Amino acid sequence: MYLKVRVIENRSIGHPAQGIFRLVLSGQAAKIAKPGQFLHIQVSDTYDPLLRRPLSIAGIDKNKEEITIYYKLLGRGTDLLTHFKENDYLSIMGPLGSEFTVPQQGELLLIAGGIGIFPLYSLIQAIDQEKVKIHLLWGGENIDFLESADLKYLVNSGVNVKISTMDGSLGHKGLVTDLLQEMVQDSSMIALRCNNLVSAACGPKGMLKATAEICLNNDIPLEVSLEERMACGIGACLGCVCTVRGADGTVKRKRVCKEGPVFRAKEVVWDAEC
Ligand code: FES
Repeated sequence: MYLKVRVIENRSIGHPAQGIFRLVLSGQAAKIAKPGQFLHIQVSDTYDPLLRRPLSIAGIDKNKEEITIYYKLLGRGTDLLTHFKENDYLSIMGPLGSEFTVPQQGELLLIAGGIGIFPLYSLIQAIDQEKVKIHLLWGGENIDFLESADLKYLVNSGVNVKISTMDGSLGHKGLVTDLLQEMVQDSSMIALRCNNLVSAACGPKGMLKATAEICLNNDIPLEVSLEERMACGIGACLGCVCTVRGADGTVKRKRVCKEGPVFRAKEVVWDAEC
């Protein structure tokens, strides 16, 4: 479970003020990694800080045995992580957690809020776009953020992308869920639904809740990747539980690190005390 992986690249990308880094790791973890899973990374060579940081897998190259991760500089832990250089070794646990379903044909709608795009990159990479058409709605603060979080990769990947920004510097001014609401009301949605439309989302909890309401009200199956603070990362400490409701109506607590982070949206009880 504990692995040492070599750092291939760890550098700031895009506008420095956005604090977004790309970390590429070499190791056998890539052989078994799946889209939606995460690595639990020790961010220093000492036990300070004690807790590892869970970071979503954004890219998997099984042939080169490489995993790509994007992270945003948010505090001491991620700051320490920025100090690792090429050919340093990092201690990781993983890949951990549940994965996204990878559709084999039809239409896939992705909805991302902010850095919630990062785990969706690994899903996009796993899709055979000859067989599955991908539609992505992505919202961020402003154009600088979106460019720094690798908008160019998306544009080059052939995905049909619609953007929203809070300041209107690119695309629709407002929330990504505005774009979703507009899309489900558009007449083209009928054709997408007839072609086995499924969806997946990642972002802040409020955005995921609103996304789930819109998708489920329109009979669009949705998987969500939940973001939760984690300690152990392996299901032992119960520090990351969320509430779900089973098909029989029974309410249960599930661990985001173990049974998640990917859940079916129709199971999640959004307003429960987690
Ligand atoms: Fe410990 Fe999930 S982080 S149970």
